[in-house]
Amino acid sequence: MWSANVAQGKELSISGISATNLAKEFGTPAFIMDEADFRARAKAWDEALKNSFGASAGTVYYAAKAFICTEVARWVKDIGIGIDVCTGGELAVALAGGINPTMIQLHGNNKSVSEIEKAIKAGVETIVIDSLIEIERVALAAKKIGKVQRVLLRLTPGIEAHTHESIATAHEDVKFGFSIASGMAWKSIEAVRNHESLELRGFHAHIGSQILDTSSFEISAQRLIALLAKYRDAFNSQLPELDLGGGYGIHYLPGDEELSPVVAMAALASAVKANCILHNLDLPRVSIEPGRAIVGPTMFTLYEVGTIKDVTLESGDNRRYISIDGGMSDNIRPALYEAEYTAVLANRASNAELISSRLVGKHCETGDILIRDIALASDIAVGDLLATPATGAYGRSMASNYNHVPRPPVIAVNDGKARVIVRRETEADLLGLDI
Ligand code: LLP
Repeated sequence: MWSANVAQGKELSISGISATNLAKEFGTPAFIMDEADFRARAKAWDEALKNSFGASAGTVYYAAKAFICTEVARWVKDIGIGIDVCTGGELAVALAGGINPTMIQLHGNNKSVSEIEKAIKAGVETIVIDSLIEIERVALAAKKIGKVQRVLLRLTPGIEAHTHESIATAHEDVKFGFSIASGMAWKSIEAVRNHESLELRGFHAHIGSQILDTSSFEISAQRLIALLAKYRDAFNSQLPELDLGGGYGIHYLPGDEELSPVVAMAALASAVKANCILHNLDLPRVSIEPGRAIVGPTMFTLYEVGTIKDVTLESGDNRRYISIDGGMSDNIRPALYEAEYTAVLANRASNAELISSRLVGKHCETGDILIRDIALASDIAVGDLLATPATGAYGRSMASNYNHVPRPPVIAVNDGKARVIVRRETEADLLGLDI
């Protein structure tokens, strides 16, 4: 839940810097990021992939959509893993961070012609194709530029992953990919093979996000490998690559489980090996795309309490509404996916009795609730600091300017030093867009 260098003593601190000092120097709300923890998690996935798959280990592509900025792209380059981008914007950040295009994979279900051309010109290693229309688009763009583009086909293996409906992606009724069961996947294979400017490298599937058991990943591997075998039987050659996507779940609440890199990769490797033996296939190069599992636990959000209000419920019980200086503009996940978070008093310890509280933001919206029901110290007062852990994934990256609230900064902490890696947006930034 908390990153490795966070300590909770008399007050919350990270790498020896107190929450109070962070708030004084950088203001609130702010995303506080543990750089060493990010690097350690990225390396742990890379090592687990290598240890479990050995010579057939492909690449760990960090899913930029979870959170990216130029400095984090530099870390990714430095760590030596790859990156998955799904828009021209994410591609621009990856390139700005100096990531070698051969370590970049482009995704997206509606890539524009200009995004595709930008990627091919930059020398992006692989484009993951999502529709028949896109096969023609990528083929034409590659031909125009004079390159043979490596592609994977994104497939939907027909899996109901155990996660929130909005973040499951591999059942049949979904906008992503080509369905294996309906025969679309086979049509897409034939369509790619019609183009000399495309080199089909293999298949991709991303079954959903925040998945905590390995069985859905194993079924996905099984179905993709069956298609690799069908391809080999039809065309007498084997495709060399398999990308099994991201989606590994993390802790959000005390007592939650997470899917560790070692457990996840061991399960995936044994499923891949068993299915390759079954079909008498050589092991393909297997890649993965974790986003949340690398960045999620590396950040917490630091807020200041602004108002406190007691509301009497119909039942006669009391509910304490604690308003912080951010809300759904920096964390839309509770409103969008009923995601649950916890929070702690960050600037001091308290022995006061706990009271049923609701943590809400500052937006003009009843649903601007960060935490629906949490027991917090009854002496929490205006000016206190609260920290919510595990906000690194899909927090800042999904932040909005709703109500013209400027988006918070990201502060990286490492080795006892804190520095801004994404500065706070200002009202001038917002006004700068208006004509
Ligand atoms: N690869 C592909 C093709 C994806 O679409 C995604 C996530 C990932 C990898 C990374 O998944 P991760 O390891 O981070 O779970 N906004 C939602 C999550 C949407 C995920 C979209 N795709 C949330 O806040 O839960």
